[in-house]
Order: sequence, then C-alpha cells, then structure tokens
Amino acid sequence: MGRGKPHPNRQQLPHSPRLLEPLPEKPDTHDHTQQHNRTHMVSTLQSDSGHLLEVHDLQTHFTTSDGVVKAVDGVSFHLDQGEVLGLVGESGCGKSVSALSIMRLIPNPPGEIVEGKVIFEGQDLLKVSEAQMRQVRGSRISMIFQEPMTSLTPVLSIGRQLRESLELHLNMTRQQAEGRAVELLDMVGIPDAARRVTDYPHQLSGGQRQRVMIAIAMSCTPKLLIADEATTALDVTIQAQILELMKDLTQQFGTAVIIITHNLGVVARYADRVNVMYAGKIRETGRADEIYENPKHPYTVGLLSSVPRLDVPADQKLEPIRGDVPNLMDLPEGCTFRDRCDWAVDRCAEDDPPLEEVTPGHSAACWEKHRVRAHAKAAAK
Ligand SMILES: Nc1ncnc2c1ncn2[C@@H]1O[C@H](COP(=O)(O)OP(=O)(O)O)[C@@H](O)[C@H]1O
Ligand code: SF4
Ligand SMILES: [Mg+2]
Repeated sequence: MGRGKPHPNRQQLPHSPRLLEPLPEKPDTHDHTQQHNRTHMVSTLQSDSGHLLEVHDLQTHFTTSDGVVKAVDGVSFHLDQGEVLGLVGESGCGKSVSALSIMRLIPNPPGEIVEGKVIFEGQDLLKVSEAQMRQVRGSRISMIFQEPMTSLTPVLSIGRQLRESLELHLNMTRQQAEGRAVELLDMVGIPDAARRVTDYPHQLSGGQRQRVMIAIAMSCTPKLLIADEATTALDVTIQAQILELMKDLTQQFGTAVIIITHNLGVVARYADRVNVMYAGKIRETGRADEIYENPKHPYTVGLLSSVPRLDVPADQKLEPIRGDVPNLMDLPEGCTFRDRCDWAVDRCAEDDPPLEEVTPGHSAACWEKHRVRAHAKAAAK
C-alpha cells in the first residue's frame, strides 16, 4: 500500500478476519525485458501530481460506413488511490468506451484512440507494450461488467475460474489457489464457500454471480476496479448489497473504483466524486454530494429528476429528459444538449461551453450554470 495519494475521506476499516491480506506480486522469472519494464513500472508508481490515474484529453473514434462516431471526445479526469468515482450518463454517451480505452480494449478496427494520455501509476498506458498491458489488466486494473454470465465460463466451476485467475496472475500453486478461492468466496459473502466452490455459474443467483465476479476482480488486489453497470441487472436491494460489498472491499484494500452507471441516484450514495458525461464529453464534475444537491448543468438536473432519489418522496413522479440523445456522427453546433434544454439561450446555438469551475472542485460546461438549480424547471430566457 502507500502508493499514490490516499483519498482524504477514506478510512481503513478495522481489520476483519474475513478480509484477506494483500498478496505479494507475481514475480517475473524468465523474461528480462518484462522484468526490466516491471521494475520501471514499480519505480514510477505515481505521477508527479500524485494521482493514481490521470486521463488527459482522451479521444476515441469509431469509423463506420456512415461516418466517424466520436464516442469519447476530449475527456479528462483524475482519480486518487482509494477514491470512488462515478461515471454517469444516459446510454450511448461514451462511458463504456472511456473505460475500455483506459484498459486498451477498444476493437480496432472500427475503433481507435486517436488522442490523449492515460497515466496510471505514473505510466502512460497508451504507450506501453501489449505484453505490459496484459500484466496491468487483471492484476493492477480489474473490470467487472453488467452480466456476469457473459464473463463467467458456464462449463467451469466457480472455484476453477477463481483458481485460474490466481494461478495466472499471482503465480500461485494449485493448492494455494484452491485455498485462496474459498477465502475469496467467503470474503464476498457466498455462504458455505468451501462447498459452493464446486458450483457452476448457473447454480448461483444473479447477485451471487456478481459476487463471484467481484471475488475474481479483487483476487489480485488491483489498484483500480472499473465496474461497468455491474449492478444494473439486479433488483435494488441486491444492487445496494453488492455496492456496499464493493465499497467495503475496496476500502480494505485501498483500491480506487470507477462506478459506471446511468443511475445518478445509485452512484451518489457510493461515490466520492462524479463525472457526468453527455455526447462523449464530461459536462459536469464535482463531489457527489455537490452534484446531487447543487447540480449546475441542466443535463445533471434532468438525470436527477429521472431517477428515484432518496431525498424525494417515493411517490413523486419521475420525469424523463425530453428528446433524444444526439447522433454522435452529426452533432449540432454550439451546446450538444441544446435541443433538450429548458435553460437554453441564444448563445447556446453558437458556442459549445467549456468545462468551467463553479466552486473549487465543482465544474460545469454550461453558459447558464449560475442560473441552474436542482428541482427547478427553468423559467427560461
Ligand atoms: N464497436 C463500435 N462500433 C461503432 N460504434 C461504437 C462501437 N462501440 C461503441 N460505439 C458507439 O460509441 C458510443 C458510446 O458508446 P458506449 O461508450 O458504449 O456508451 P455507454 O455510455 O452506454 O456505455 C455509442 O454511440 C456507440 O454506438
Ligand atoms: S449551454 Fe445552454 S443549451 Fe447547453 S446546457 Fe447550458 S443552458 Fe442548456
Ligand atoms: Mg455502457
């Protein structure tokens, strides 16, 4: 531990016997190039700024027969060790493509990262070799997805799948990995783990499968966990349990998390900070409580009115944001949210607003940000 800048709001949980000590890293025994690179990586574990992750001006495009989709169009943000960041926005706004770009898993063709830097532990992941990147994936950065059935192999027991990850990434012997697999299942709250380790994915409930995915993702004590709509398919009670579990585990291990979701209501409760994305760009960023209570972008206000909130009576009608997300191949001039915005003024048709600070640590990309209020429909113009 002790790498990167610890997040100030984070406290270590008191030691729990159910939680495991981090394991030593897998040694490189035969490949001297890798050994050298690994040494280099370890010696440059954080950037000058001390952030665990810095994404600078990331641009990822897809070339299709109809034109170029600017799925991620100049995204910049940072993340500290142990911090939980929410990445929020409607479907198609570029959340998954941002995550896959960080992991360098963009299918090429049709996709390409055309610009930007992804500085992780002091190194630009967009510049390292594919072999180094494979080492980063699954051991330094883990990712979990919405539907565990597509990530878990149906014909292998969950114990075997955990074991394989441990043998591959941590160089454990089979016996060590078997013991650890049971510990991990116990850690993520699978009852009677020693017996369930022989179960196949279809024998588990959706929530339990997601717990197994978390066990696999956390098995190498990654520095960063990216959860892409990881709880979306589950009912709300199970969603809350899984998010609690993820938060507990990541606090224990000092892992930073990016929670990707279209539901701002969910993430506000678990994230330290939130980035709100729209049409490939971050349109608002700030502390989760600020974004929730004092949003400064009309899109964020729209997202908040369209999901159930804890601070609003349950019978209050949800209001979807009117209109549709714009076509990323043919974005309008000016602000891309204009056609759906109740606050729009003439200037919005001509100039695309930059992300500007409203208060320290809270920025919004809107010409009318000082007029925007939560719960309030604009008396526009
Ligand atoms: N393989 C692909 N080919 C073409 N376009 C893609 C591909 N993958 C993603 N896109 C486009 O990139 C945009 C952002 O997608 P994505 O990041 O998956 O959105 P979300 O915010 O729902 O995760 C969408 O318009 C999507 O159609
Ligand atoms: S810049 Fe204008 S159109 Fe865009 S969100 Fe702000 S008020 Fe609405
Ligand atoms: Mg997605």
